[in-house]
Amino acid sequence: MTPQDIAKRAVGMAAVERLVAPGMKLGLGSGSTSEWMVRALGERVRAGLDVVGVATSTGTATLAREVGVRVIELDEAGELDLTLDGADEIDHRLRMIKGGGACLLREKIVAAASRRMVAIVDESKVVTTLGAFPLPVEVVRFGWRSTRKHVLELLARHGMKGREVSLRGGEDDPLLTDSGHVLLDCRLGAIADPEALERELNRIPGVVENGLFCSFANAVLVGRPDGTTREIAPTG
Ligand code: 5RP
Repeated sequence: MTPQDIAKRAVGMAAVERLVAPGMKLGLGSGSTSEWMVRALGERVRAGLDVVGVATSTGTATLAREVGVRVIELDEAGELDLTLDGADEIDHRLRMIKGGGACLLREKIVAAASRRMVAIVDESKVVTTLGAFPLPVEVVRFGWRSTRKHVLELLARHGMKGREVSLRGGEDDPLLTDSGHVLLDCRLGAIADPEALERELNRIPGVVENGLFCSFANAVLVGRPDGTTREIAPTG
């Protein structure tokens, strides 16, 4: 295992150990850190813990069932007690970029249905300014080039003229999300006003959702390569 894998495993296990209680309805995130969390949850379930999970992707649903976690639909669950999910970047105000694993739409719906959302990340994800990681924007396939033009115009109004915005997977074989949409990856460098960008991207016709999660995380647990974890208190 790489030092980063050790950190991801540590934070996934710590989150389950510290935050999950019997009877909870849980949102289960996607990505490699969330996989460790789901595996740790499976162990607890096999030892008798009674919880149900709502998965943020088909991959997570499959893994959760494999390890023994009962998976139900969000509409069956109603409000969730807690969602545990990874992030591609998180700043000290707990604003995140998500969607590196192409699951941002369901991740945001599940986070929005949760009373509490805790981000589980390794140190490499903690940044002072969001934007080095390409921001994913989920758009419907119909007219995606036209939608991209509007995204580029919005970015220019936000002082990010001429940034690269590419179709994930390429035009010959674009990646399709679990909901059948495509993703535009926006290489922005630094995002000056994440709240405004999150809001305004979603006003463009054709944009389904974007990977900025500015007001979702209530806390963040950070795993370290030595197997320990720390919690970041939000600032600002
Ligand atoms: C998937 C996500 C993931 O949470 C994010 O990509 C982090 O993944 P990992 O834990 O593998 O680093 O947003 O859409």
